[in-house]
Amino acid sequence: MNILGIETSCDETAAAIVVDGRDVLSNVISSQIDLRRVHGGVVPELAARGQIQAIIPVVRAAVAESGLTWPEVDAIAFTQGPGLAGSLLVGVNAAKSLAMSLSRPLIAVNHLEAHVYANWLALPRGVASDPPQLPAICLLVSGGHTELLLIRQRGEHEVLGRTIDDAAGEAFDKGARLLGLGYPGGPAIEAAARGGDPSAFSLPRAVVPGVYDFSFSGLKTALLRTAGPFRLPDEDTERVLDTIFPIHRTPRFHEHWPVSDLAASFEEAIVDALVSRTQLAAGDTGARSILIAGGVAANRRLRHRMMEETAGRFDEDRRPAVRWPDLSLCTDNAAMVAGLGFELYQRGRTVGLEADAFPRLPIGSVGSA
Ligand code: KG4
Ligand code: ZN
Repeated sequence: MNILGIETSCDETAAAIVVDGRDVLSNVISSQIDLRRVHGGVVPELAARGQIQAIIPVVRAAVAESGLTWPEVDAIAFTQGPGLAGSLLVGVNAAKSLAMSLSRPLIAVNHLEAHVYANWLALPRGVASDPPQLPAICLLVSGGHTELLLIRQRGEHEVLGRTIDDAAGEAFDKGARLLGLGYPGGPAIEAAARGGDPSAFSLPRAVVPGVYDFSFSGLKTALLRTAGPFRLPDEDTERVLDTIFPIHRTPRFHEHWPVSDLAASFEEAIVDALVSRTQLAAGDTGARSILIAGGVAANRRLRHRMMEETAGRFDEDRRPAVRWPDLSLCTDNAAMVAGLGFELYQRGRTVGLEADAFPRLPIGSVGSA
């Protein structure tokens, strides 16, 4: 079964064709990263406008690159939420128009669950691997979300813990801004941390109410305080500008400031929190796999520490396999939407043309109109 997936939850416009929930035939993504760099983040109105401009060419390219013809597309899956309302609506309406004109079933997909599903996809010419063994613990870490999930069956998710404030990716982005490292923050911190000493500065590991929960806002404040002595005073003009365009402010630092050590210590604090909770959950639930999903899965230190800690904590016969999707499937994409769409279709979970966007759709649910 060939499913066309459409993803427009934020500022990436993506479309993909996936066969039987596994084989990715095409995976087209149009990003507004340059706009993000200018504004230091996503501006919802601009993101929605960009979606409108990109959606038709991106969907056309996904079908063309798959080598299929339109009649060979068997169903349309789209991201229903969570995400930015204006952006989501572009994808919802594109999907509904296609479903109507092609007389094909329509499947509504939860964006967060789709990120998890990326672990079941196979890229052309990629290394063929078996599906993850269940039960699995999935650490879902992106710019908007940080959740620890228990997956007993493919496509079903139980939330064990989540962040009580900033998402992990958001913490990277804010930390990078405080250090004047640019946007997006995750790759910038990772690059700056290279060669740095992760134990050079002691940054706090937050204590949170639930054993599997996370908190990153205190860490951000601690970083601000730790970097303070190395920072040059702001000039008045900058301060005036800052009140008008706070996002544009780039701090300046002394010539020989320990940026690598600061970035490495900050990265380590985030990674520590993510790895320790995941290990705990994997032990408590007897998980056979540990999955990492979402944009922050691109972080090498996170992946390395997760492997290392798992090897140290579990005996070989009880050791969960640690895995993550190909990096092209970690950040926002539509292959993950088409993939999960197949799973839902098989369970009869199609929706009608009255389907709507749900910007705050929680994990484990599909909205109804
Ligand atoms: O999943 P994603 O592409 O978009 C959302 O749905 O949020 O995740 C984007 C987030 C950004 O916050 C970015 O800073 C972070 O993923 N990220 C990283 C790395 N690459 C991207 N964080 C840490 N290390 C990286 N290498
Ligand atoms: Zn995402």
